[in-house]
Amino acid sequence: MTPSRVAVLGGGRSSEHEVSLASAASVHAGLENAGHTVVPIEIGRDGVWRCDGDTVSLTPGRGLEGADVVFPVLHGPFGEDGTVQGLLECLDVPYVGAGVLASALCMDKVLFKELMAHAGVPQVDYRAVRVERYRAARDAVLDELQALGLPVFVKPARLGSSVGIARAAARQELAPALEDAFEHDPLAIVEAAATGLELECSVIGNGEPVASEPGEIVISSEWYDYQAKYTPGGMELVVPARVPEQVRERVRELALETFITAGCCGLARVDFFVEDERVLVNELNTMPGFTETSVFGALFAASGIPYAELLDRLVGLALERYEAERKHLH
Ligand SMILES: Nc1ncnc2c1ncn2[C@@H]1O[C@H](COP(=O)(O)OP(=O)(O)O)[C@@H](O)[C@H]1O
Ligand SMILES: [Mg+2]
Repeated sequence: MTPSRVAVLGGGRSSEHEVSLASAASVHAGLENAGHTVVPIEIGRDGVWRCDGDTVSLTPGRGLEGADVVFPVLHGPFGEDGTVQGLLECLDVPYVGAGVLASALCMDKVLFKELMAHAGVPQVDYRAVRVERYRAARDAVLDELQALGLPVFVKPARLGSSVGIARAAARQELAPALEDAFEHDPLAIVEAAATGLELECSVIGNGEPVASEPGEIVISSEWYDYQAKYTPGGMELVVPARVPEQVRERVRELALETFITAGCCGLARVDFFVEDERVLVNELNTMPGFTETSVFGALFAASGIPYAELLDRLVGLALERYEAERKHLH
């Protein structure tokens, strides 16, 4: 593949700033290994974009620092939610990963689940709770949530890295869990608890995506919370997942169906709950953790696609999508 000049965006305004910087450093090194030139751009917690210590100036239609492709290695709000993708569209530059709509949709756990339900994708039962309705009709809302049974998981609708999520095992734990979720987002989602294993599957491609071998997330804590995610040794990835072959195939099939239904491009990691032979989709991350040892790359490495090749393919997919979309615009 012809070497490209790739602008790598890292950092960002979300609570996943540090995680993004670690991912961006790995992507930087991997792209250079694959023969590309990298322009690193760091987005501060204050939202300012800097390159080599200078503030980056942006002009609509004029691209970004002369890059052929932009790789937004950003997680969470203001990065993985369509906002930066919209800015890159305005700059008129090819970029890696999902576009505006798919990014925004997958960031919103309620809208994502509504779309998947419409497509018949199996999931846990859930209810959305808006803070205004909760304040106006607290007891009615709590009564309605009884249909989900206990325990339930209470989450802010639009966040990540398990921030603001609580497992409520008794009715009196629901109200404090909702209050916590509302600290982060006026929209919360309450989900029936899945039991069993957590499996993850990586996807790469545009119109004809391919899925990796699924991996199993093994944790010693009760659920996959922030600490298990970011403490070294907090999680062990087992590939291939220790489930029957037909369950692994079902996971791969659902990962691709979810990717296509959400309108994703480039890459995603789709996360599952597996109860015996029943496979439920939990969520889709449009910009999963991307260090060389992160689950996304580890699953493809175990499936025969090494890290540098993944990056090379993602750059190619970004260029391919840009060309294809520009054709449709004329
Ligand atoms: N409905 C559920 N049933 C069982 N465990 C859950 C459920 N929802 C979340 N969890 C646990 O919480 C973790 C984080 O939830 P998730 O929805 O993936 O949020 P995030 O976007 O922050 O990763 C999951 O990996 C799982 O361990
Ligand atoms: Mg998750």
